[in-house]
Amino acid sequence: MNSLASADTSLNERASLLGWDCVEFWVGNARTTAGFLMSAFGFECTSYAGPETGVTTKASYVLEQGDIRFVVSGALSADSPIAEHVRKHGDGVHDLALRTTDAAAAFRAAIERGALPVREPWTEADESGVLELAQVAAFGETVHTFVNRSGYEGTRLEPGYLADNLPSTTVGPSVGLTRIDHIVGNVEKGRLAEWVGFYCEVFGFDQLQQFDDAQIRTEYSALMSTVVWDGAKIVMPINEPADGLKKSQIQEYIEHYDGAGVQHIALRTDDIVSSVQALRDRGVRFMRVPDQYYVDAKSRLAAFDLPWADLQRLNILADQDRDGYLLQIFTETITDRPAVFFEIIERRGAKGFGEGNFKALFEAIERDQDRRGNL
Ligand code: FE2
Repeated sequence: MNSLASADTSLNERASLLGWDCVEFWVGNARTTAGFLMSAFGFECTSYAGPETGVTTKASYVLEQGDIRFVVSGALSADSPIAEHVRKHGDGVHDLALRTTDAAAAFRAAIERGALPVREPWTEADESGVLELAQVAAFGETVHTFVNRSGYEGTRLEPGYLADNLPSTTVGPSVGLTRIDHIVGNVEKGRLAEWVGFYCEVFGFDQLQQFDDAQIRTEYSALMSTVVWDGAKIVMPINEPADGLKKSQIQEYIEHYDGAGVQHIALRTDDIVSSVQALRDRGVRFMRVPDQYYVDAKSRLAAFDLPWADLQRLNILADQDRDGYLLQIFTETITDRPAVFFEIIERRGAKGFGEGNFKALFEAIERDQDRRGNL
């Protein structure tokens, strides 16, 4: 415990953050969202908590693929905070849980540096040992739970979750997603600097990249974005809307989600052509990319020998930076409100986020905005 550590020691030095622990979604019906993530995205359900396991506050499914762990939770009564969250935001991400070596130290360091407490450090114990947890507020109603698993054996999420009587694994082509690449937050106009400051000052993160609205704009829509990271595994681009001729897609998110929140989760694959083919075979819908994009992309990325026919057939985007190239694709929103979506990404050296694709992506998004009458 580092209770005497000075306030200028960052959280990350005092209770090192080891990476993502899990991402918890709060949804209207956990059973069906879990089923959707299993059938469409190829996740496996590895444990469940609910009335049948002695948990009376929520129904909750743990879904895993590669090193990715999602938790999908639904309310069991109208007075549940999950029900309130869903009423306000629709289905969305509630918790970006971070693995740490000392949850109490991480909590104290964060609070000293200006984070708002959500739940003081607490422990959960069962025959596997003791799990140490604490929770602070992030943007909007999103939270970060600090999770210390060093005293908790095995792979179970936490006490109350059992691997009995789970929904069976779906039949379908293997998707091959391996890990979380980055998680993007949308914040209200004018609040980007504040949240970048939060992650840099409170969490000890660094700024990795910055894009202003001159770089990320189309004829109609613009945004500003700054990427913060822990120097290793936790990578978080944060967006704020900027003025364009029409409504920014970030502003559309803020209005429909009713505040700041997680916009997309990028999931890594080692073979994006196989992954996207499998996802399409399983029924996942992706944003459409105009054919003209590939005429431009082939000349932009002429230095690389890429499977252009497959990329174009599957609507996969390509971009490069000085370290190599990346391939990426974005799903349509997975929520009823135009809010949360997934990105699938394969990196071949490149460390960027597809800046060269923003224009192509935005034009695709704007076609969908137009269809919803929001452009
Ligand atoms: Fe992304």
